[in-house]
Amino acid sequence: MTKKTIIVTGGAGFIGGNFVHHMLKKYSDYRIVCLDALTYAGNLETLEPVMKNPNFRFVKLDITDRSGVYKLFEEERPEVLVNFAAESHVDRSIENPGVFVSTNVMGTQVLLDACRKFGILRYHQVSTDEVYGDLPLDRPDLFFTETTPLHTSSPYSASKAGADLLVLAYHRTFKLPVTISRCSNNYGPYHFPEKLIPLMIANALADKPLPVYGDGMNVRDWLYVEDHCRAIDLILEKGRIGEVYNVGGHNEMHNIDIVKLILKALGKPESLIHFVKDRAGHDRRYAIDPAKIHSELGWLPETKFADGIQKTVKWYLDNKPWWEHIVTGEYADYYKKMYGDKL
Ligand code: NAD
Ligand code: DAU
Repeated sequence: MTKKTIIVTGGAGFIGGNFVHHMLKKYSDYRIVCLDALTYAGNLETLEPVMKNPNFRFVKLDITDRSGVYKLFEEERPEVLVNFAAESHVDRSIENPGVFVSTNVMGTQVLLDACRKFGILRYHQVSTDEVYGDLPLDRPDLFFTETTPLHTSSPYSASKAGADLLVLAYHRTFKLPVTISRCSNNYGPYHFPEKLIPLMIANALADKPLPVYGDGMNVRDWLYVEDHCRAIDLILEKGRIGEVYNVGGHNEMHNIDIVKLILKALGKPESLIHFVKDRAGHDRRYAIDPAKIHSELGWLPETKFADGIQKTVKWYLDNKPWWEHIVTGEYADYYKKMYGDKL
């Protein structure tokens, strides 16, 4: 039987890595080709368990490298491409917006061009709820739907919105068979410890201060990463071409409550919490309305936050070498630069 080939870009990152594991576990008739530039956020240790799997191939490549991407398409002739590759951290986009435009916008264009040139059955863009901007804290009745206007705040979200518009333009103009998912904040295993949840776990374990931006009242809508992977899998199977699907599980939490919960789970004191200068342009609240993916595709999240956060804390306790290699490496310089004078 010929196997279907899926190129997964950014598969050495947090969600892409979880997606690679999900797909290889679930399907034996798919070949997964992971294309990743291994930036500071890419980690081959995440893919170590599948490196020898005959249905898996890893290729170190930058999505902005047009000739490299075309060569890979020529070799692999993929049926499907799922694009996770991105610069993903809002704080870094405030420090250095250029690389966000390069990878997130121009890299996406290279992938779309490759799909046009060599043909594809599906191009799926992994996008974010941040393209909708933010919602006020005092309007809990408001949610992002797929028709909410794009209204971005950070260079990161602007670059993701730019990519989404290109993807939709390639569908309308060139009839490229695309889908887009816009998901809320993910958490779970292999999450890079510059993001809220893994950063707070790592700092608490080291008895280091936990830097909470502003008043800590900003709200994020958290989804366990495996639920996001299942949503993308379902969109690839049954999603309608040209459509956008919001993904989220109605799990809104204030940052400060998450931080307190982590401290409690680790038996650490709240005195470790330090309120620091707010993020510039900090989005107040995200909240996804997942009605479309639920009614059209039958998707619902399976992991409740109370269980997901316990599993996540346990994963970080059981997999110290994975994140300790990160926090002692290049990330240590970044951490000093970002928080040095705040803590
Ligand atoms: P991540 O930063 O953990 O991983 C990104 C991966 O992309 C890394 O492996 C990195 O090496 C790779 N990469 C970066 N630039 C590249 C380039 N030029 N060429 C090839 N590979 C490159 O990110 P993540 O949190 O896993 O997010 C994955 C995707 O999901 C992103 O597109 C992000 O916008 C989107 N998203 C993330 C969340 C979240 O909560 N983390 C929520 C919604 C959507
Ligand atoms: O909503 C989806 C988005 O979620 C994704 O598109 C992004 O790629 C992903 O990084 C995430 O963006 P956020 O900015 O919401 O995630 P982050 O973990 O950086 O921050 C979560 C909240 O915690 C936010 O309100 C800022 C706050 N925060 C973050 C850090 C790193 C702190 O208070 N202190 C911190 O040190």
